[in-house]
Amino acid sequence: MSFADQLLAWFDCHGRHDLPWQVDKTAYRVWVSEVMLQQTQVSTVVAYFQRFMQRFPDVGSLARADTDEVLHYWSGLGYYARARNLHKAAKRIVADYAGEFPKQREQLEALPGIGRSTAAAILAITYGQREAILDGNVKRVLCRQAGIEAWPGETTVLKQLWTLAERLTPSQRVSDYTQAIMDLGATVCTRTKPQCEICPVAQSCAARSQNKQQSLPARRPS
Ligand code: ADE
Repeated sequence: MSFADQLLAWFDCHGRHDLPWQVDKTAYRVWVSEVMLQQTQVSTVVAYFQRFMQRFPDVGSLARADTDEVLHYWSGLGYYARARNLHKAAKRIVADYAGEFPKQREQLEALPGIGRSTAAAILAITYGQREAILDGNVKRVLCRQAGIEAWPGETTVLKQLWTLAERLTPSQRVSDYTQAIMDLGATVCTRTKPQCEICPVAQSCAARSQNKQQSLPARRPS
């Protein structure tokens, strides 16, 4: 079975399928959830997400709000630049795209607070577009899987990781695959205590076969 198929089979049995942003998937809801999840754990995000959606149910209501009110609904999540960028981007989506999210990754990436991986996650999760993601969790999974020993902050290493991420992304079930690889990184292939015994892709993992799962990915050289 391919890497994607192993991961998808695991996701079907063990993944999370009922989080609020996974049930009524719209670009707006997926975007807000991804930005909240960038620096905050799922368990914390759920309640914030639900309050935020009640008050700002669509991109238009977010765009029309005062920054202070947006920040109030963000209060407690930290990293407030995320909320300011979310608000700015909502205004742009209304002004430049008539409130419709662009479906080209490059256009999403041009919005405040949306990097390549977040843009790809929005398109993959909402529309099933074949786009590779590479956030912190996925970098760790891929460094271990491929046994990459160099520091992943290095430009050449990042490029290698993006190439690998693209190669591993399937053309079917992209939305589930994207959620699955993030869940694997968040719950099984964790930084300090990876649970290789229950990992669906342990057989093909280079770090595991060399017993290097604890030391990869490499720390920033000092
Ligand atoms: N981190 C970023 N996006 C995530 C998602 N959709 N699920 C779990 N963790 C995430």
